Amino acid sequence: MKAIATPQVLTLKDLETLKQIVGEQYVFADEEALNHYGHDETEHLLFLPNAVVKPGTTEEVSAILKYCNEYKIPVTPRGGGTGLSGGALPQLGGVLLSTERFNKILEIDERNLQVTTEPGVITEVLQNSVKERGLFYPPDPSSKGSCFIGGNIAENSGGPKAVKYGVVKDYVLNLEVVLPTGEIIWTGSNVLKNSTGYNLTQLVVGSEGTLGIVTKIVLKLIPLPKYDLLMLVPFSNLEKASEAVSAIFRAGFTPSALELVEIDALKIVSKMVDSHAVPVNDDIAAHLVIEVDGNNIDVLMSEMEAISELLMQYDAGEVFFADDANQKAELWKLRRRVAEAVKSSGYTIEEDTVVPRAELPKLIKGVKELGKQYGFHAVCYGHAGDGNLHIRINHPTIKNSHGNEEMTNALKALFNLVKSLGGTISGEHGIGLIQKPYMDIVFKEANLRLMRSIKQSFDPNNILNAGKIFDLN
Ligand code: LAC
Ligand code: ZN
Repeated sequence: MKAIATPQVLTLKDLETLKQIVGEQYVFADEEALNHYGHDETEHLLFLPNAVVKPGTTEEVSAILKYCNEYKIPVTPRGGGTGLSGGALPQLGGVLLSTERFNKILEIDERNLQVTTEPGVITEVLQNSVKERGLFYPPDPSSKGSCFIGGNIAENSGGPKAVKYGVVKDYVLNLEVVLPTGEIIWTGSNVLKNSTGYNLTQLVVGSEGTLGIVTKIVLKLIPLPKYDLLMLVPFSNLEKASEAVSAIFRAGFTPSALELVEIDALKIVSKMVDSHAVPVNDDIAAHLVIEVDGNNIDVLMSEMEAISELLMQYDAGEVFFADDANQKAELWKLRRRVAEAVKSSGYTIEEDTVVPRAELPKLIKGVKELGKQYGFHAVCYGHAGDGNLHIRINHPTIKNSHGNEEMTNALKALFNLVKSLGGTISGEHGIGLIQKPYMDIVFKEANLRLMRSIKQSFDPNNILNAGKIFDLN
């Protein structure tokens, strides 16, 4: 990957000051570090920061921001680096601030069903820690084994379980945030209801590291359901599979996951992880992965039976029930590794469209037509139960949408289709750097003006993750 040039904005004096704040061993400017922190999982993009800084306390974050605000130095915050919209790319150079040393779970409050954590905790580590106490934190992005809870808050992540349990925003009660000026605030209270002024907590959730750096997080937990059942249902027709999705909800069921994976994606991921768990014969166009969970196993079994009967009206093939924990884990592994697998086989451009769920068939049909028109191949997968369709694009010559006019035009056509179906650009990956050119498709100038003025009031000098979500000025 070739780095796109970034300006050198740090002086030797700046580096010295940063070292004084966090300690010499936590400031990096060597080639390996700059390369590592210069990319995330977005397309094939690489922008080198001038230095990587790893603070260990809220006070250190505050001192860094105070200094950078005074000298107008760009700061890009970064969690696990698994983002898909370029939110953590330091395209202006300057300081890359990694939250990786904020890796402690501070308190699991079993009386109130809450957890207080630092942002650099890996999402799955947090989930497993609360699970040991019989508690459940549902948001489960595919990257849960490596993404950070802080990054999930920045992007308002979702994942398969969102269809029943909601996304990250539904679990965040309170945040400690360092503002770009260096001031430290708590955004709310550790309570389940709150009508006290503007909701700063929810404003920071999904703000993609542009309004402040989150240093402590209080999350709501729920009791862990006792059982889950998982089935895999093949379809010979992709649109029929997507029609079946909304029928399941109309029939009165709320699965705890309802995922769609197109066969080309499944072939690629099965090969990558060397798995034969799922049939990939030529009669199959797509699979639905359906999970139900709860505390009464008999109820869950009869729900699964009723759902599979319903699916027969949509030409479903033979249903495969995952019998034990190993089979379930194998199916989920395949599903979770789709993005990584298809990217490594040439599908470098990922879109995160979301439409009202009954419009999915029209979206899928339109995507395939746009592929023919613009000369790319697309595979669809994702959280069908939420109407949240990930579209991975393999173009023979264009590997980055960012800065490419031809692909930008194709994506404008895609997002105009999404808008005409009542949907929007991103369900869970955010806007970051690469989706900015499409914001005016779904927002009026008045919306964008409001967003810019919010940014301005948090970050008057535009130092924090500037040029993300919308352009500077
Ligand atoms: C997924 C990620 C890419 O659903 O959002 O696999
Ligand atoms: Zn997803």
